[in-house]
Amino acid sequence: MKVLGISGSPRRGKTTDRLVKEVLSSVGHENEFVSLAGKKIAPCTACLACVKDNICKIKDDMEPLRDQLLAADALVIGAPNYFSALNALSHCFLERLCQFRHQDCDLLAGKYAVIVSTGGIEPEIPATMIEKMLPYYQINHVGTVAAQGAASCFTCGYGETCSTGAVRMLCGEGVKITDDIIPDLSKQPDVVGVARELGWKLGKILGEVV
Ligand SMILES: Cc1cc2nc3c(=O)[nH]c(=O)nc-3n(C[C@H](O)[C@H](O)[C@H](O)COP(=O)(O)O)c2cc1C
Repeated sequence: MKVLGISGSPRRGKTTDRLVKEVLSSVGHENEFVSLAGKKIAPCTACLACVKDNICKIKDDMEPLRDQLLAADALVIGAPNYFSALNALSHCFLERLCQFRHQDCDLLAGKYAVIVSTGGIEPEIPATMIEKMLPYYQINHVGTVAAQGAASCFTCGYGETCSTGAVRMLCGEGVKITDDIIPDLSKQPDVVGVARELGWKLGKILGEVV
């Protein structure tokens, strides 16, 4: 049994990546982590070129992911909240799974998925969107874990004075940015526990499928 973890965050090593890896750490099956950071993945263009053979014809970084997706028995899909929505990179990736579902055929049908969702203020929003997409692909939803990540405003250099940024939204005006106010997964042990529990649950399901 193989589990493929995919993080749609363009920031390597941040909350989405880390939380996807926490889920993978307890699955107890062969697993692989893929970051979409730096990858060029275009949106679905509705060209219909994939209808006959279930192969998307857009030439970009989605191509090599195709075989990995098909080989996986389960997915851990992570995405951050950008402007109260799924970030565009993750959305493009999920749109392009459309190539697998044509003519009564759904090549992803019966696979399992754990959803990882992050956000600076509303971490659960990406999950609500991904949860709605899974049925289109007939992927079984095992569970969701959501964590608060550090908005870039904590490190952009202007966070303490900027009136439009996340620091003021979260902490109020005039706050000094110190390590203790920057959201981090290490300060959310319950969330890490949920992630590991979901990994274990997914592993158990896959063990029963064998
Ligand atoms: C362009 C942009 C827009 C964002 N919009 C929101 C938002 O509307 N709501 C929210 O909760 N967080 C928002 N965030 C914060 C990210 O969701 C947060 O930093 C998250 O931790 C990013 O995931 P990462 O740490 O894995 O990169 C935004 C971040 C960026 C870069």
